[in-house]
Amino acid sequence: MQKQTVAGVLLAFMLLFGPDIVGAGEGEGNKERGEAIKGTCAGCHGSDGNSSVPAMYPSIAGMDEAEFIEAMKAFRSGEREDGQMSPQARNLSDQDIRDLAAFFSAQERK
Ligand code: HEC
Repeated sequence: MQKQTVAGVLLAFMLLFGPDIVGAGEGEGNKERGEAIKGTCAGCHGSDGNSSVPAMYPSIAGMDEAEFIEAMKAFRSGEREDGQMSPQARNLSDQDIRDLAAFFSAQERK
């Protein structure tokens, strides 16, 4: 009984933290998490980052990961200003930005 509990806790721990430990080391983006938190971005940029109104909202699918991170940090800091985009970046952590970058840069630009 106790052994099973320990195994259960271990399994839960691995499921929760496995992707972080195995997939992405410190400082790397986690695509799966990026996908899980992309909801607000999808409204303007499309759910896979291919915008349906590219004249208004740029497509961000397949963007260079480093450029994506730089753009997001510039919006967050106010160095780059856009009435619609800046508020989107303001509450994101560095990890959120890395995860979103990993997800969108892995999407195919159509
Ligand atoms: C309300 C609409 C809206 C939402 C929601 C939104 N964006 Fe944007 N985004 C824009 C607009 C408009 C621009 C272009 C701004 C500019 O170039 O100054 C932009 C630009 C960008 C760029 C820079 C693209 C480039 O080519 O330089 C990135 C990266 C980006 N958005 C990512 C995101 C992410 C990630 C989210 C979700 C957290 C998000 N956006 C949510 C409207 C939005």
